[in-house]
Amino acid sequence: MDQLDADAIKRATQTQLLGQEIDVQGEVDSTSAALLRRAQAGALEGTVVIADSQTAGHGRLGKLWISPPGVNLYLSVLLKPPFHIREAHVLTLLGSLAVADTIEAHGVTAQVKWPNDVLVAGKKIAGVLSEVEAADGHIGHLILGIGVNLNLERHSIDSLLGTEAARATSLQEVLGHVIDRNVFAGMLLEKLEARYLAFQAKGRQPLLTEWRKRSFLGSRVTVRVEGIAKDIDEEGCLLVTLDDGSTIRVREGEVLPLPRARELQSR
Ligand code: BTN
Repeated sequence: MDQLDADAIKRATQTQLLGQEIDVQGEVDSTSAALLRRAQAGALEGTVVIADSQTAGHGRLGKLWISPPGVNLYLSVLLKPPFHIREAHVLTLLGSLAVADTIEAHGVTAQVKWPNDVLVAGKKIAGVLSEVEAADGHIGHLILGIGVNLNLERHSIDSLLGTEAARATSLQEVLGHVIDRNVFAGMLLEKLEARYLAFQAKGRQPLLTEWRKRSFLGSRVTVRVEGIAKDIDEEGCLLVTLDDGSTIRVREGEVLPLPRARELQSR
């Protein structure tokens, strides 16, 4: 089992902005929560928190991100992009592309799935979660949290992920050998920085074009939205108010009651 080590990560990367400060933790509640505490204490852009394990790792929609020790990557990066809050989504896409780049640098084809998943051979290998603090519509800071299944073996995937196991994989399962977590983390920071600087220099279009190429556009999907059922309109469509306050109009679909909080805890 490799030990996470800030110097080893730095040796594997050549970044100017990301990872100048790397805080390596053993067990932490969540690398993103730990980084938020540092951000509130004035941490610089590019600060990284990486942990061996998380006790309260979280993903989208309040789901638990299962984070056993010694095997995976749990890493959060502090960004302070000079952008409007509406760019936050694009930064999540950017994060998933950088993970896909890093996996491809290991010789494995990776795809992205909206909004924040990275897949290999149709199975989820990584997830990205952006958490934003904004003022006056502008991003104050954005914490990009990244979880990658690196060295989880099939029997662990099966026992830890339950019903989700068949739709999940790890890089070790695909490649058949152990992945060095420090090297992967260093490469990821490099890919992330390259995409982040390109986004700032050239705007969102090249990034969106790239994302489209690496994704499943064209395939049939089910889209799930969650919010408050407010009303029906004159055409009989359901009006749903989302958590961000906006209201959408649903013409086709199926309405399910919200799962109870305990059920949300399982991935
Ligand atoms: C998802 O697929 O829903 C996103 C999962 C993001 C998990 C990572 S692990 C590192 C960071 N810390 C967290 O608590 N979450 C992110």
